[in-house]
Amino acid sequence: MGRLDGKVALITGGARGQGAAEGKLFRAEGAEVYLTDVLVDEGQKTAAEIGATFIEHDVTDSAAWAEIVSRIDQENGHLDVLINNAGIFHMVGLVETERQLWDRTIAINQTGVFLGLQAVSDIMIRQRSGSIINISSIAGLRGSGGAFAYGASKWAVRGMTKSAAQELSPHGVRVNSIHPGIIETAMVDEFSRKGINESIRERIPMGHYADALEVAKLALFLGSEDSSYCSGSEFVVDGGMTA
Ligand SMILES: NC(=O)c1ccc[n+]([C@@H]2O[C@H](COP(=O)([O-])OP(=O)(O)OC[C@H]3O[C@@H](n4cnc5c(N)ncnc54)[C@H](O)[C@@H]3O)[C@@H](O)[C@H]2O)c1
Repeated sequence: MGRLDGKVALITGGARGQGAAEGKLFRAEGAEVYLTDVLVDEGQKTAAEIGATFIEHDVTDSAAWAEIVSRIDQENGHLDVLINNAGIFHMVGLVETERQLWDRTIAINQTGVFLGLQAVSDIMIRQRSGSIINISSIAGLRGSGGAFAYGASKWAVRGMTKSAAQELSPHGVRVNSIHPGIIETAMVDEFSRKGINESIRERIPMGHYADALEVAKLALFLGSEDSSYCSGSEFVVDGGMTA
């Protein structure tokens, strides 16, 4: 018996990285999984490999959010888990951050999460159950000098999680945030390009980056009934980096 038997999950940014790892684990635990992403080829390949459904979607597109949720409702009659996972990261400090980079980071990392929360609220309130998992970062727990827009967006995700939890929990819908440290995905390739992997590793008490599966396991806990009394909380998976 799987921990997600009978559940339906929607995972944004699911073509690769953490979203793909979450999709794979959720499938293995019995969930129907819908992966969305702007990376169509990679998304279709990942979905085919794990037995999920892929839908092309830019999380900044609100009309498409409504269409996707409506399609999932028609196909399944319920939607149990949303992982707001899609995101972008650029190592650019306050002074160097151009307006365009700021707007794009906020649009994807912050507005995308807002749109996702809003899009699934009706169906989850109607069914009086659901778990929404917002992927923030340790950058949403402390300052992010050197990645200014990213830090701002991830603090916003943490804040929106708490406000949404206050509004949705009375309807049986739980909302929590995950705060990964450094996870071995394409997102941190920039560290290699800048030659800063060693200096970052030195700041991690456990001494190494995480595998995406280590975040997926936490998402599984939050998506399943094992976390039935958790809402509005922050779940850190960072090898002790913020200790
Ligand atoms: N890798 C890390 O060290 C780390 C640490 C903390 C938090 N995070 C967060 O984890 C989440 C997943 O990142 P990852 O590590 O798997 O990196 P990743 O770059 O492999 O995955 C991010 C995915 O989001 C997708 N995406 C980007 N813009 C999109 C858009 N507009 N619409 C839909 N999809 C879009 C990308 O195509 C990609 O597939 C992100 O929110 C990221 O900020 C990552």
